[in-house]
Amino acid sequence: MSPERSMLDVLGSIADIANDRRLEFGIKLNRILMAITECMQVNKSSIMLFKNSKTLEVVASTNPEIVGVQQSLDVDSPSSWVVKNKKPLYVDSSSQCDIAIKRFRHYKGDAFFLVPLINNNKVIGVINVTEKIGSDRFAAAERDILLHIMGHVIIALENHRLAESLQKKKKTLQKKNLELRKLEKLRTDLFNMLIHDLKGPISEIVANLDILSYTLTENENLAFVETAQAGCNTLFNMVSNLLDIARLEEGRLELMHEQIDPGGLIKDSLAGLLVSVKSRDLTFQEDFPETTGACTGDRSLLTRVLQNLLTNAIQYSPTGGTITVGYREIVTGAIEFFVEDEGPGIPEESREMIFNKYKQLDKKSDGRTYTTGLGLAFCKMAVEAHGGRITVECPETKGSRFFFLVPSKKKST
Ligand SMILES: Nc1ncnc2c1ncn2[C@@H]1O[C@H](COP(=O)(O)OP(=O)(O)OP(=O)(O)O)[C@@H](O)[C@H]1O
Ligand SMILES: [Mg+2]
Repeated sequence: MSPERSMLDVLGSIADIANDRRLEFGIKLNRILMAITECMQVNKSSIMLFKNSKTLEVVASTNPEIVGVQQSLDVDSPSSWVVKNKKPLYVDSSSQCDIAIKRFRHYKGDAFFLVPLINNNKVIGVINVTEKIGSDRFAAAERDILLHIMGHVIIALENHRLAESLQKKKKTLQKKNLELRKLEKLRTDLFNMLIHDLKGPISEIVANLDILSYTLTENENLAFVETAQAGCNTLFNMVSNLLDIARLEEGRLELMHEQIDPGGLIKDSLAGLLVSVKSRDLTFQEDFPETTGACTGDRSLLTRVLQNLLTNAIQYSPTGGTITVGYREIVTGAIEFFVEDEGPGIPEESREMIFNKYKQLDKKSDGRTYTTGLGLAFCKMAVEAHGGRITVECPETKGSRFFFLVPSKKKST
């Protein structure tokens, strides 16, 4: 086989060994060394790598007994010379240089050739070949072959180092990720607990304000109580949205399906909100079909979907505006609810994103309207949990029309 052919083969096999992910590093080095030994036709060869900045260690050798042997750079040796000079060292019986004369006897009169492994201008190790079979020297062309191979060995080592450091980083990241997830879970649990515990006191305030409102006659104090009631309703809605979104996201919310009369559901949803509309002089208009329909769903969730849509409609309606709320039966058991207002409408490019959590198009600046941007996110999740879909349409003229479908067949719980 020609030397070029043999070099091509060895380069190919070194590349294969280097890219074989299943091989351990030690086995890789041994296989690379075997390929070099065969190609250079020598009896002895070894690879040394830096153990630390001052010490080289034999990591692969044709003599397994010396694997693990360490050598300090302070000791005068051919490998120390190669490292310090960053140059290959070739010695045979005709060599005249100092290091050759001093060290030649260590190699039992055989020619030896040491090549530094240099990466980014830094020596990372040394390859050593000696005892050329059938000759007492290495021809210049043979030495060139080893120099060529060296480049590939460096790439193989560097790939391994990178893979190892990536692996280490991956493990560190996985560990940190796990810790973060635990912390996140703890935070979410605490947050949900706190939010849940808020519901009790808010309900008490709502109940007492209700009682108070019945006992007060039409005088100016009633206005204060009604403002407090409206504030409590908003707060209660926010807390409920937060809790239900967390439950829906974690798949912890089990839907309680029951037969629902859509008109009754709309009336119930409106009842809690009338207090908020009084001061705005708004008109509610119901748009129900002549034949009453029916659907199946979670009454409390669907009530809150409607309440969120109605609250938005109230908030964005101009004073004196009309809000239309109704439903129609698409097919038997599938009901489409809708809430329509005469507000500013929603720009086309924002009609999808308003259903994302915390998405608010206009930050309220009056400091009196407290909103979180969770209402529509809750609506979307709750409707989708029923297997339905929620959308918004805005006619060219004015206003928004939100509608959602509660399909006849429940697709998920
Ligand atoms: N009827 C509507 N008319 C005009 N814009 C609306 C209407 N409903 C919602 N939006 C826009 O969509 C955004 C998101 O609505 P969403 O109900 O999710 O949040 P919010 O009402 O701001 O806060 P929250 O409902 O959590 O109190 C609103 O901030 C508003 O910009
Ligand atoms: Mg809202």
